[in-house]
Amino acid sequence: MSTELAGRVSVVTGAGRGIGKGIATAFAREGSKVVIADRDGASAETTAAEIREAGGHAVSVRVDVADEPSVAAAFDEIHRRFPAVDVLVNVAGIWVGGSLTEIAVEDWDRTMNVNARGVFLASRSVLPRMVERKRGTILTVASTAAFKGTRRAGAYNASKAAAVGITRNIALDYAAYGIRAAAICPGLVQTDMEVQLRKFRGDTEEYRRFVLAAHPLGRIGTPEDVAQAAVFLASDRASWITGSCLIVDGGTLA
Ligand SMILES: NC(=O)c1ccc[n+]([C@@H]2O[C@H](COP(=O)([O-])OP(=O)(O)OC[C@H]3O[C@@H](n4cnc5c(N)ncnc54)[C@H](O)[C@@H]3O)[C@@H](O)[C@H]2O)c1
Repeated sequence: MSTELAGRVSVVTGAGRGIGKGIATAFAREGSKVVIADRDGASAETTAAEIREAGGHAVSVRVDVADEPSVAAAFDEIHRRFPAVDVLVNVAGIWVGGSLTEIAVEDWDRTMNVNARGVFLASRSVLPRMVERKRGTILTVASTAAFKGTRRAGAYNASKAAAVGITRNIALDYAAYGIRAAAICPGLVQTDMEVQLRKFRGDTEEYRRFVLAAHPLGRIGTPEDVAQAAVFLASDRASWITGSCLIVDGGTLA
């Protein structure tokens, strides 16, 4: 086990599976104690148990990041168990397909509530203690969709641009307290969300060729690809990085 994040307490939302699970596992490998926070309590506990079996420190907590009382209760519990959170990683997110005239208003609201409001609610839960301690890092997994439009994903595009906006705001308002914020913007990553997206696009041979062509490095990403970027941004090696977006996309935006 290496020690890049030794002695830190990190909370990773959406860590029951996918990219969040990859980040939580990598953080634990680097010596951080990790809180696995997910709407799906059972999968959160499975991730935590797997980390403990591998020799790491992890606990799980159920939270719906879009729901204010749920976030308040979860962070009360986290702060009872750990007096200080050093790193928050906002990963919980959903993807709902559809152009603006296709999607239901409820789906727009749900997407914004998880992907943007969730970042706001979780971040403001840890910021007061970070301010007191004059240290802390808030990372948010946004998407290349924050910078480039993707067809028939109106709510998702908007929500990820909002997540980047929140990141920049945290960076400016809390820099004086030694708090850093950064966004990680992945291209397509092999997870359940990618399967959902592929099915929405028809899952044709043509679509698969299009996806590969859109990633010059010749493959889509893995949760581990994103986790490596998150470990770097959470570590002291990134101590002069704030308000930035690290693009991790196999070359898509290039
Ligand atoms: N997979 C991709 O291609 C891709 C690309 C760019 C960005 N992202 C972003 O990365 C993040 C993780 O995506 P993923 O591919 O791992 O997705 P995923 O669907 O595989 O996993 C998402 C996790 O978030 C949890 N979650 C969903 N809503 C929640 C809520 N309201 N409260 C708490 N937890 C909640 C789910 O239970 C699940 O464990 C998302 O924000 C997504 O938008 C994904």
